[in-house]
Amino acid sequence: MDSSEFLEFLTTRSSVREYESTPITEEEIDYILSCASTAPSAGNLESWDVVVVKDEDVRLCLSEAAFSQPHIEQAPVIFVVCANYVRSMSRYGERGILYAVQDTSIACTYMMLAAHALGLHSCWTGAFEDDEVRSVLELPQHIRPVALLAIGRGHPPTGRTSRMTAGEHVHNEIW
Ligand SMILES: Cc1cc2nc3c(=O)[nH]c(=O)nc-3n(C[C@H](O)[C@H](O)[C@H](O)COP(=O)(O)O)c2cc1C
Repeated sequence: MDSSEFLEFLTTRSSVREYESTPITEEEIDYILSCASTAPSAGNLESWDVVVVKDEDVRLCLSEAAFSQPHIEQAPVIFVVCANYVRSMSRYGERGILYAVQDTSIACTYMMLAAHALGLHSCWTGAFEDDEVRSVLELPQHIRPVALLAIGRGHPPTGRTSRMTAGEHVHNEIW
């Protein structure tokens, strides 16, 4: 893939919030997880974990925890991508909290892009009640759910979402 193909790959992804019930295969799940495992991480500690949820009843509970967002119930699989604080704090102390969240965000981004590479659709979902997700999935206290990544075959919106220009983000040399 050359650099213009890479940009094209990125710009053809968009968040999808309507899904068919067609399941995701185990091979597709394995591919997505293998891609996430290549992500960089602070100290190479990989301070993230993921709960792969396919069960319909659990997806319904997760959807309720996510303020009843329907795509969480609809998508055939939800990757609940979590920060593992103990793994990073054991080396980095307080700073490890930030590193674990960064590690988790990168891993989740790789999963989202891996799904795109497979021709699947996804929606990164950050609006949810932490404690409800914790309770549904029986997460230990040192594990923080960071994102519910819905993946499936869906119906992409027509037209791309707009973006700020790159320049609006950039400050040269000093703020
Ligand atoms: C940290 C984060 C949290 C998000 N939370 C939600 C969410 O709770 N529900 C939702 O439908 N989309 C959510 N999104 C998806 C964004 O709305 C979406 O990425 C953005 O509007 C740009 O659209 P695009 O992904 O189609 O390019 C979230 C995305 C990120 C990165």
